[in-house]
Amino acid sequence: MNLSVQLAPKHKSGLLLANPVMTAAGTFGYGTEYSHLFDIQKLGAIVCKGTTLEPRDGNPQPRLAETASGLLNSIGLQNIGVKALIKEKAPIWANWRVPVIVNIAGERIDDYAQLARELDGIAGISGIEVNISCPNIKAGGAEFGASPESAARVTAAVKSATSLPVLVKLTPNTDDIVKVAVAVAEAGADAISLINTVKGMAIDITTRRPLLGNKTGGLSGPAIKPIALAMVYEVAGAVELPVIGCGGITTGSDAIEFIMAGASAIQVGTASFANPRAPLDVLEGIEQFMQKEGVNNLTELIGAARR
Ligand code: SIN
Repeated sequence: MNLSVQLAPKHKSGLLLANPVMTAAGTFGYGTEYSHLFDIQKLGAIVCKGTTLEPRDGNPQPRLAETASGLLNSIGLQNIGVKALIKEKAPIWANWRVPVIVNIAGERIDDYAQLARELDGIAGISGIEVNISCPNIKAGGAEFGASPESAARVTAAVKSATSLPVLVKLTPNTDDIVKVAVAVAEAGADAISLINTVKGMAIDITTRRPLLGNKTGGLSGPAIKPIALAMVYEVAGAVELPVIGCGGITTGSDAIEFIMAGASAIQVGTASFANPRAPLDVLEGIEQFMQKEGVNNLTELIGAARR
């Protein structure tokens, strides 16, 4: 069976994945944290924690709250910063078979461009995912993803600062995600990933205060799957670029739904917290489905529900 997917068909060197299963930024660390638990080299790609120019401590605690079928987070992009990533993580990734994509976030457009420049040409880094969708920081992040104009400006700045393939991760917290996707595609993105978390909150009724230190957070997990699926379906119908589906994917069947909606690849996120092997389980579930249905090439399933 052929499960390989090309995520950057218009890019000069492309971004070929052996299979469509990626990890979602912020749910799989730098990959190294999981490598003793299962053979992570079997995955299609690893996307690392959102990375900023300087290290960040993140938001005040509490930063996580479970909800019905979901998880609220307000981490606030805690990360080691791009310099430590290049020095400590990239040399490890350079020996891996699985491609690693670095998720980047900033407060200003220039931050994104500088991050892209610093990551360019570093062995072990196969692509960039532009995070214009983090709802947990005071400036930047999802602010950029909320309007087509600012999303396009960030995309164009990153594209002109790097020779790496560029994915752009969209927020559902916008009036019209399809318009943002079209603007990002026109600005030169190689692929689009969606969705990041849905803005939400929880209140502690004993303290009568918001439960999260940052008051609001981003909701992920199975609770958002139908929202993500509808958005992937709509965006895949509006752009020519590969679309990467993300939002509550826990099983192979979930992944197949996103692929049939038009996603060329999918990201497993929150599921990894309950089951660290979830990305591999999802991959095996896709393979079993293809075997059962007599499907030899994954491309036969991409967009099947649109035809
Ligand atoms: C966070 O670090 O707050 C979450 C990252 C994101 O939503 O992109």
